[in-house]
Amino acid sequence: MIEELGKDFVKDPHKYYERMRLSGPVSEVVLPRGLKVWIVTGSAEARSVLMDRRLCKDIWFGTAFAGKHLRPNAVRTAWHPDLVRYNLLNVDPPVHSRLRRAMARALDADLLNRVGERVEVTTNELASRVPVGETIDLVEAFAAPLAFSGVAELVGIPEPNREDVHRWTIPLVYFRPAEEVSEGGENLLALLRGLLEDRRSQPGDDLLSRLAHPSDPSDVLSDQELISLVSNMVMAGYETTQQLISVGVLGLIEHPEQLAILRSDPTRVPKALDELLRWVSPAPFSTPRYTTEEIEIGGVRVPRGEIVLVAVDAVNHDPEVRSCPHAIDFDSSPTHIAFGRGIHFCAGASLARMQGELAFAALLEHFKEWELISTVEDLEWTHTHITRSLESLLVRLS
Ligand code: HEM
Repeated sequence: MIEELGKDFVKDPHKYYERMRLSGPVSEVVLPRGLKVWIVTGSAEARSVLMDRRLCKDIWFGTAFAGKHLRPNAVRTAWHPDLVRYNLLNVDPPVHSRLRRAMARALDADLLNRVGERVEVTTNELASRVPVGETIDLVEAFAAPLAFSGVAELVGIPEPNREDVHRWTIPLVYFRPAEEVSEGGENLLALLRGLLEDRRSQPGDDLLSRLAHPSDPSDVLSDQELISLVSNMVMAGYETTQQLISVGVLGLIEHPEQLAILRSDPTRVPKALDELLRWVSPAPFSTPRYTTEEIEIGGVRVPRGEIVLVAVDAVNHDPEVRSCPHAIDFDSSPTHIAFGRGIHFCAGASLARMQGELAFAALLEHFKEWELISTVEDLEWTHTHITRSLESLLVRLS
């Protein structure tokens, strides 16, 4: 039977996962926005799906049949072809291998360290601007600007363009209606084309310049590939980090004894981050994978032409793997798939970890008391087929 996930799925997905697990590791469901997909909740099956080369990521193949899985009242959106064509998550080997290699050589430890120095300054500036003892929206005042500044710094978006770029990408990241996607996409494309031209003649110390001036001749990319790759980094690079920080703060407020552990020994933050990544699961679903032939996953036959999503948050909260999966426990040794697995493993994981560590360290240093100004039940979440986002988080820090 195909289960329809209700509007309350976004508030409490685990209630649904508990039920799905009873019928097996793979379930056919209609997501709240009206798309029918197969969701993998079993830990072993999820890990093997993420590595399974039979499942295809080619966006042209996927969109050729995605329409038939949309319910009549589905939220209809679009994507911008020039921006997403060579997105790493939309291509299979050998194209993926070539692009990922070029990205890996450009995004080395040296670039990351320099970005880190600037991110640290921004993090401390943002933390010291938070008014002590006043109610603030932590997403707006801290998590969102911090997350965006990291990826903007990495890619090389000039300071004066950052606010616009953030605004233009919102319809693309949150799968808003087609007109908004097209307008935001056109603006972003025009800016990136201009920046690429500038960096070709005057390279800076950023990802865009490095991709435009590769050290290895096999890393020379076409303009379309290059623009698609950097827009991929921008679009994949802030919503998840924003969730890690804001939902992570929520989790620590809900687990005061764990917050006390970090407060008494802030050197534990880097290790604690894995437990927060597991608990938050900032990318709750993998991106879509498509079946090009009938395949069997965990004893379930999935026909050709279907969309498969791994429920990363279900796997990270699997009661078969840990006895209290919904509790944060910094004494545990968390295993998680928050950054995925296999060839599509997150390309920004090091930046995300660095930002997460800096963010929690700065908040612990600046504020002794963290207080939530609403009930957990009143929090507003939004959902697309791959994201689950806390819209705002009212807190008082002092
Ligand atoms: C806490 C923050 C983050 C989390 C939890 C996260 C999670 C993920 C996951 C689960 C995937 C794999 C999706 C799949 O296999 O379908 C992924 C891929 C990716 N992520 Fe992240 N991500 C984060 C931050 C970032 C940042 C900061 C960037 C860029 C600066 C980024 C760029 C990418 C890219 C480009 C891919 C595609 C890699 C490929 O297909 O080869 N991510 N991420």
